[in-house]
Amino acid sequence: MRRIAFVNQKGGCGKTTTAINLASCLAKEGKKVLLIDLDPQGHSALGLGVEPGPIEKTIYEVLSGEMPISEAIQTLRENFDAVFSNVVLSAFEQVMAGVPDREYKLALSLEDIQYNYDYLIIDSPPSVGLLTFNGLMASEEVIIPVDSSSFSLHGLGKLLETIQVIKKKARHELTFKILATNIDRRTNFGKGVVETLRARFPESCFNTVIHTCTRLREAASHGKPITEYDKRCAALRDYQSLTEEVLNEEAEMKAEIPSLESLLEGKRARGETLEREIIFTLAAPESARVQIAGDFNNWVPDPLHLTDSLGRTVWQKVISLKPGSYQYKYLIDGRWMPDPDNDKTVPDFLGGANSIINV
Ligand SMILES: Nc1ncnc2c1ncn2[C@@H]1O[C@H](COP(=O)(O)OP(=O)(O)O)[C@@H](O)[C@H]1O
Ligand SMILES: [Mg+2]
Repeated sequence: MRRIAFVNQKGGCGKTTTAINLASCLAKEGKKVLLIDLDPQGHSALGLGVEPGPIEKTIYEVLSGEMPISEAIQTLRENFDAVFSNVVLSAFEQVMAGVPDREYKLALSLEDIQYNYDYLIIDSPPSVGLLTFNGLMASEEVIIPVDSSSFSLHGLGKLLETIQVIKKKARHELTFKILATNIDRRTNFGKGVVETLRARFPESCFNTVIHTCTRLREAASHGKPITEYDKRCAALRDYQSLTEEVLNEEAEMKAEIPSLESLLEGKRARGETLEREIIFTLAAPESARVQIAGDFNNWVPDPLHLTDSLGRTVWQKVISLKPGSYQYKYLIDGRWMPDPDNDKTVPDFLGGANSIINV
């Protein structure tokens, strides 16, 4: 299964339009396609004539572990399946805060269905947060739609930096390609944008340019991909040309499409360097303020919070730590002291002691 994510932190640059229409054209070419919408705005469903309101089986249920992906998949047309989203997905980032491996939820969910499809097309929200990270971790190709109205080399540079960071973190190949979209062929500005992109990224631009075509907007508002809305418009030819390029790449890369296993192996190989969630707990309910400082936060005190744990009221803080040894201390109502529940200490050179934790 070839996995392609559409990513750009700019809204309105053609991610959804291109995801829907590329998916639809690939399906028409006989490829089995799964489209996944990671944008809580749910525009993919709208653009394909599926009302987002009543959907209860969404990508949110899949990512949060409530449902296997096979249950959330909807069959739309021949060769064309999708998992949609709705506004509930906007809670994902908050719900997942502190959960280990939260960037891998999508990649892990795909293991069961990866052999059912030739293509996975991922539509992303207009931000580079946890949802987009999930999309990137599950892909090995990124298509960055760049439209002339919001064109900025600076913004594009920032996005490419992020992709580099993710590549390093994920330890898997992540190639990117830029697609010029919504380019008005009648203006010099539009032509200039295409020329600038090709000059700056000669190896990484599609030859295809998606031109401005009002039929695309109309098709989306009628809930149809352009393949079904207008078989003679210029936009259909543009998307067919893009499809051809994508299929030609497939022929070239056939032997080297990395499997999902190899992608997840990258993650597993990282196992020994994965952070662990350590819960620091202090029973001092009578104290007004408890903080913790140590090697892990440059000795800048962070507050603990009062919570109920196993029927006791305690101060707690969860800190993610990479394997290693750390010194720390509590600051209780302004007084420094080592952890009373931890007998491993070292002298702190001020006549006191620091607690030691080995992760
Ligand atoms: N080539 C194009 N010509 C005309 N309108 C377009 C074109 N591509 C996208 N649009 C319109 O621009 C708007 C934003 O596109 P969309 O694909 O939703 O962007 P994104 O998903 O990046 O936010 C939509 O109304 C869409 O119909
Ligand atoms: Mg969109």
